[in-house]
Amino acid sequence: MEGRKAEFLLTNQYKLMLPSKILTWVILFLLIFPSFFQISHSKLDSYSYLAAKRKRMSEKVRKMFYHAYDNYMTYAFPHDELKPLTKTFTDSLSELGNLKLEYLPEQYKGSALSLIESLSSLVVLGNQTEFEKGVFWLSENLTFDVDARINLFECNIRVLGGLVSAHILATDSTKNRLVQGTYKNQLLDLAENLGRRFLPAFDTPTGLPYAWINLKYGVMENETTETSTSGCGSLILEMGALSRLTGDPRFESAALHALRKLWSMRSSLNLLGTTLDVVTGEWIEHSSGIGAGVDSFYEYLLKAHILFGRDEFWRMFQSAYIAVQRYFRHGPWYHEADMRTGKSTYWQLTSLQAFWPGLQVLVGDIPAANLSHREFYYVWKKYGVLPERYLLDHMMLHPTEKYYPLRPEFAESTFYLYQATKDPWYMEVGELIVDSLNLYTRVEGGFASIRDVTSMELEDHQHSFFLSETCKYLYLLYDDSFLGDRNYIFTTEGHPLPVLSSWREKLPETYIPSNWTYVKSEEQVKRASAMSMRVCPATALECGQGQPRVESACHIPDSRADHRCFNDDDCGVDSSNCRRRSCSLAGYCGQWLFI
Ligand SMILES: *[C@@H]1O[C@H](CO)[C@@H](O)[C@H](O)[C@H]1NC(C)=O
Ligand SMILES: *[C@@H]1O[C@H](CO)[C@@H](O)[C@H](O)[C@H]1NC(C)=O
Ligand SMILES: *[C@@H]1O[C@H](CO)[C@@H](O)[C@H](O)[C@H]1NC(C)=O
Ligand SMILES: *[C@@H]1O[C@H](CO)[C@@H](O)[C@H](O)[C@H]1NC(C)=O
Ligand SMILES: *[C@@H]1O[C@H](CO)[C@@H](O)[C@H](O)[C@H]1NC(C)=O
Repeated sequence: MEGRKAEFLLTNQYKLMLPSKILTWVILFLLIFPSFFQISHSKLDSYSYLAAKRKRMSEKVRKMFYHAYDNYMTYAFPHDELKPLTKTFTDSLSELGNLKLEYLPEQYKGSALSLIESLSSLVVLGNQTEFEKGVFWLSENLTFDVDARINLFECNIRVLGGLVSAHILATDSTKNRLVQGTYKNQLLDLAENLGRRFLPAFDTPTGLPYAWINLKYGVMENETTETSTSGCGSLILEMGALSRLTGDPRFESAALHALRKLWSMRSSLNLLGTTLDVVTGEWIEHSSGIGAGVDSFYEYLLKAHILFGRDEFWRMFQSAYIAVQRYFRHGPWYHEADMRTGKSTYWQLTSLQAFWPGLQVLVGDIPAANLSHREFYYVWKKYGVLPERYLLDHMMLHPTEKYYPLRPEFAESTFYLYQATKDPWYMEVGELIVDSLNLYTRVEGGFASIRDVTSMELEDHQHSFFLSETCKYLYLLYDDSFLGDRNYIFTTEGHPLPVLSSWREKLPETYIPSNWTYVKSEEQVKRASAMSMRVCPATALECGQGQPRVESACHIPDSRADHRCFNDDDCGVDSSNCRRRSCSLAGYCGQWLFI
């Protein structure tokens, strides 16, 4: 902090001394000689340089978004997603997430999925006219009365979340976003219609929803009863918001019931598995981590707490988060472990895990977030993009999962870390991401997924989340004017929902996000995140002067308050440096030098 303050003063002096013409030349020079800039970064880093970079980069990202969006609108709309290499389309909402595609319906002609996903991004980019056009097209033409078997989780985060968020943005009068004239809550009506079609999925002995449902006919005969933890545990934001907006409590209550049931299935270590059976309520896959099949479960516990202000969500999140830090974390990496024993199973880094540092920013655990973010950065740099799976124990790519389907998670974490720290380094990370995407994935007809990161061979698919998330987070990194002085949480699909006091069960006792993305000054840096005052309870220590000391949420207390132990398992994780403590020969937990 000290260093940055000095730097800031220095650059202000430069500004005063330099006539503006010279300054312009300096900036041009910097733009032309980026490598020179890197050497003398700390010296010449100036406000104007950063402002110019912001402008240049936000313009670049804007172009990316429109290249993807316009090509979708030209070659694929109103089908679901664009195939950018052949300039055709795929009606992928049906059977999305099902690699086998066994029940592909013939009648289904798409739900304009990529348009729905683009609406909130259009608002973030400030394109009111195109937003309105999309809203009215959907209002008149979208129907869910279609014979399509959809994945409840995917349809919830992409379609329901997209509609609910767009509805809120369309009616947000404080931002002048009110769609003029004839908007009569049509998007909300569509969302409600969709939400009702979801409800039969929850009609199981456990209340845990089926993973698959036919929009027209409900749960199909002989439907699989297997689902994932994220499939049951990441519905609460969208369905809760839908209930708040419509006054119909059934959506929130179904999602909440499922979430509570899921939580009740945790092991004594507070760990969950990855897949389970919705009829028997038994786990199928006991190994889990923070990536595929589980990721957004953790995300939604914390975000539900922020959005709905319910302590129950915080208590679940806190126990779950501590268990993750304890059993999955290994330095900056996260591996998988068996929920019953806590023993590690798979040592793999997956591209989806890259959202975790962003979540840690919301918790207030910036050092831990920065640490793992940096590891993802190195892997990104090594391959040019993030491979889907990387074997940590062999430091090599997974033999088959070598693809990069334009995923947003690394950009998302970079955005959060930049918001919390304002460290310009994260803008450079963003630039690396933008440049890689343009270099490897941009084709004439849009942006294509990468099939193999070693050959950069492309695949004919532009996922809708590229529009709703990847472009949005990259844009917000350089231009966050959308955020204004509001607090938003972003769903796991990148759709913003405002944090409203009327939705909160209870106003927080401690500091809550009134302005977290804007708290940037040196003295307030500790409050940089919404949750920074709500780290693990044992860590909010009184340390004189009535000032609570805020410690890292990686902290795990020793199992006994007197720090006595029989073996290493009795010891926790040190709050000051996040290192594992071990049991000494004399039977005390600590960080002993011989370790
Ligand atoms: C909004 O999007 C449309 C479609 O891409 C484009 O033609 C128009 O120029 C955009 N408007 C603004 C203000 O960016
Ligand atoms: C609904 O779709 C039809 C056919 O594509 C189109 O002509 C019409 O303009 C659409 N409605 C709106 C409000 O855009
Ligand atoms: C469901 O399973 C039963 C028993 O295996 C079978 O007889 C029936 O044809 C199946 N129904 C469908 C629609 O596949
Ligand atoms: C992140 O980590 C790097 C490398 O350890 C360090 O130089 C940097 O100051 C850290 N940034 C923050 C915001 O903690
Ligand atoms: C948010 O913080 C910024 C910078 O500290 C301040 O200028 C602004 O007025 C704040 N907004 C609100 C709504 O508190």
